[in-house]
Amino acid sequence: MSITKVHARTVYDSRGNPTVEVEITTENGLFRAIVPSGASTGIHEAVELRDGNKSEWMGKGVTKAVSNVNSIIGPALIKSELCVTNQKGIDELMISLDGTSNKSRLGANAILGVSLCVARAAAAQKGITLYKYIAELADARQDPFVIPVPFFNVLNGGAHAGGSLAMQEFKIAPVGAQSFAEAMRMGSEVYHHLKILAKEQYGPSAGNVGDEGGVAPDIDTAEDALDMIVEAINICGYEGRVKVGIDSAPSVFYKDGKYDLNFKEPNSDPSHWLSPAQLAEYYYSLLKKYPIISLEDPYAEDDWSSWSAFLKTVNVQIIADDLTCTNKTRIARAIEEKCANTLLLKLNQIGTLTESIEAANQAFDAGWGVMISHRSGETEDPFIADLVVGFRCGQIKSGALSRSESLAKYNELLRIEEELGDDCIYAGHRFHDGNKL
Ligand code: PGA
Ligand code: ZN
Repeated sequence: MSITKVHARTVYDSRGNPTVEVEITTENGLFRAIVPSGASTGIHEAVELRDGNKSEWMGKGVTKAVSNVNSIIGPALIKSELCVTNQKGIDELMISLDGTSNKSRLGANAILGVSLCVARAAAAQKGITLYKYIAELADARQDPFVIPVPFFNVLNGGAHAGGSLAMQEFKIAPVGAQSFAEAMRMGSEVYHHLKILAKEQYGPSAGNVGDEGGVAPDIDTAEDALDMIVEAINICGYEGRVKVGIDSAPSVFYKDGKYDLNFKEPNSDPSHWLSPAQLAEYYYSLLKKYPIISLEDPYAEDDWSSWSAFLKTVNVQIIADDLTCTNKTRIARAIEEKCANTLLLKLNQIGTLTESIEAANQAFDAGWGVMISHRSGETEDPFIADLVVGFRCGQIKSGALSRSESLAKYNELLRIEEELGDDCIYAGHRFHDGNKL
């Protein structure tokens, strides 16, 4: 069934910035998708087209991307008469219409909105759920489906919060839960105890939240953050059942070959900046002291040799985000140079569903794990909940247990788990190997 109407408009993300919403109409009805946006974006991501006109939306308008959908992509899709179930054909048509290697002409935000909408329209045409349709597209096993471990970003720092904490994300993962529903309850309890501790230890404003809904106390070090998180886990009686993950997101504090953990201080002293080897020592001390199972972006986006030296020395999950940017060429290099053992997959880093499927399968084929991720500027669109189940990844991060742009994804996973019943399993301790379960 082909597309009869394509329409895009400007809507707003969780930071109040403009973003692209796309609607596609077929004989089965109207389907919608909204595109998210990052703050600590990797420089190798596909281009998010912004107007740059400072007199409107502080330069962040997306009217060009919206008009590219309405006047270029939409008419071309309708003229092509491609069926909505031909995801690959439609994505390839958009890639060739754009004609650049980083989607800078039409904008990855324009292209992705259409790509995700097409998948929704196709699932409806086939009369199956979106996650089942994605599993078919990705050629993933469906018996049983795997429900992911949620990595809740309960304490926000770095580019996502005020305060001096350099590292961006401190996450809790209820790997010892029996189900996703239980993981949500455990996560909610720990999150609320953490909020109480933050207020007790750092004053009432420490309970205010950052861009991803985690508490954002004005603390200086990762140890301060981790001490409080571990205390909250222990108060709930979840020692051993709830583990911890960190995303350092150090591309924003990498300077002259060194890592500046005081980067938010205007007069940070360069003599305190850490060499890659000193940063490794720091990570070892954290790994020794805290129940950390996952480290994302331990090094900056182009510091390849530090990544591979570090991976040899640790046996936790090492996730590549800014390093790989869901980009096939960069993933291939990271696999070849043994930089990481897990891919962070963000749809808008690459801009089409087809290329995201290829990226996930490339990682799985190399024996890597895959974690599906939201962006720090999110929307009410729960697409990634279906994506993580369809891809059989076993792990997802979508912010804390607050703010509905985060809960939209987690709540959708609750519904999927309930709907599947005995036809699904919770990934639990085997979150890294979701595709092998
Ligand atoms: P971003 O943050 O969406 O601001 O890039 C998420 C992350 O770094 O993983
Ligand atoms: Zn990251």
